[in-house]
Amino acid sequence: MNNKIIIINGPNLNLLGEREQSQYGSISFDKLQENCLKKSKELDLEVKFAQSNIEGELVNIIQDSRNKFDGIIINAAAFTHTSVAIRDALDVYKKPIIELHISNIYKREEFRQKSLISDIVTGGIFGLGTDGYILAIISMHKLLKNEN
Ligand code: DQA
Repeated sequence: MNNKIIIINGPNLNLLGEREQSQYGSISFDKLQENCLKKSKELDLEVKFAQSNIEGELVNIIQDSRNKFDGIIINAAAFTHTSVAIRDALDVYKKPIIELHISNIYKREEFRQKSLISDIVTGGIFGLGTDGYILAIISMHKLLKNEN
């Protein structure tokens, strides 16, 4: 059976292509989703693409993923820097997790330079633009096949 993964996106990522193009590039959220589905299909991975602007909804999505998905790729967006609840939910998830940021959070404002989830995830990708999503899918595929 194919592995199933979920790509979880936090607040304002639905506005990709419209918000701060200098940080986040020009491709739209729909196009990004299309690219991720295409890459996952090539790798025989089943993928769900999720987005919410609401912290509690993201916690619910992470909790529900425990029994449904073999790995999580998460761009928690602004909640990366603030949410103990999202960190705690991820900490319960015992399978691979990749933290993802489109921009290099360590080169930006001081409040963005702290991630509350980096020390509990498997690994992370940041600063490589929306290509980071494709790289994360490739890495997750390898992690799940034990080829990393
Ligand atoms: C982000 C970085 C966060 O600081 C910011 O709040 C976002 C997106 C990124 O992908 O670079 O919304 O996670």
